[in-house]
Amino acid sequence: MRRALITGGAGFVGSTLADHLLDLGVEVAILDDFRTGRREFVVDALARGAELFEGDVLDDATLAAAMAGADVVFHLQANADVRHGLEHPRLDLRENAVSTSNVLEAMRAAGCRRIAFSSTGSVYGEPEVVPTPETAPFPVQTSLYGASKVAAEGLISAYAHGFDFAATIFRFVSLLGERYTHGHVIDFYRQLRADPTRLAVLGDGRQEKSYLYIQDCVDAMMTAVEHQGDTAGTDIYNLGTDATVVVDESVALITSHLGVDPVIEKAGGRRGWAGDSPLIHLDTTKIRSLGWRPTLTIPEAIARTLDWLDSEPAIALPAETVAS
Ligand SMILES: NC(=O)c1ccc[n+]([C@@H]2O[C@H](COP(=O)([O-])OP(=O)(O)OC[C@H]3O[C@@H](n4cnc5c(N)ncnc54)[C@H](O)[C@@H]3O)[C@@H](O)[C@H]2O)c1
Repeated sequence: MRRALITGGAGFVGSTLADHLLDLGVEVAILDDFRTGRREFVVDALARGAELFEGDVLDDATLAAAMAGADVVFHLQANADVRHGLEHPRLDLRENAVSTSNVLEAMRAAGCRRIAFSSTGSVYGEPEVVPTPETAPFPVQTSLYGASKVAAEGLISAYAHGFDFAATIFRFVSLLGERYTHGHVIDFYRQLRADPTRLAVLGDGRQEKSYLYIQDCVDAMMTAVEHQGDTAGTDIYNLGTDATVVVDESVALITSHLGVDPVIEKAGGRRGWAGDSPLIHLDTTKIRSLGWRPTLTIPEAIARTLDWLDSEPAIALPAETVAS
């Protein structure tokens, strides 16, 4: 790997990966329009020589410029918010599936054949087999986000088959750690910093999910991408830990960290929202067979996340809370 393009390179995962690739001596190009990414996440990377292409991945000229010279693309750009799909029914399709088609066409035009893609455990919907292996029969989709990622996976594997691309697809559980900007930990943290006396919880608090620390995720991605090399075909990996936590356990860790004892107001129901999967636990035997192991447990990763949120009030808290 000589030069990598990271789409969504100013986001939580992309910026962490950018730093990691620079540590390995890989040239890095970042394409991002900062709609959810943050300039402060890429300051160090840019100072160390990463090149920024600021713009929309749906803009062909920006994409072609960013792609020049890349021998690997980490396609991480997405609408990464699972929860609000039904409010904007075309958003996931455009940002997750059409954008992937754009990236694949730009790769073909530039002669770049290696792609790594951030899919999601949400593609398993509400699976019948838990822990869920990569080979699980594909279920009915329950979210537009998951459906759009399935479409993107399909496009990538068809390009791999038809144009001899080397494709590595990752189905992540939810990620935690430094630069975390979206998900239940920050939602609860914000609520409790604004009002420590009460906490609104979506669903019944029994939703059970696996999580993975961001640095462990990036290590796993690199392990798999290096294993794939430039061998044509598609390889799919679940990335997660072999454990889960229920929402109530997360709440206990967060309230204890903040030293608060709020009244918990549960909305009720098995799912936090339409399309939420009440149980996500992926079988990670395949990535482990390459020698990768996570370094942090889920409670340790939640603690890291909370420490980081404490250290970054401008990100962790809405503006009015910071000012007061
Ligand atoms: N964070 C998680 O827990 C998690 C879990 C499963 C899958 N994923 C996937 O991992 C990838 C990265 O997620 P993340 O958590 O870093 O999200 P993120 O929102 O922090 O990063 C996405 C980046 O893409 C950029 N972006 C979005 N649309 C763009 C567009 N049209 N043009 C240019 N830039 C655009 C955003 O500004 C942002 O920097 C996504 O594909 C997401 O679906 C993340």
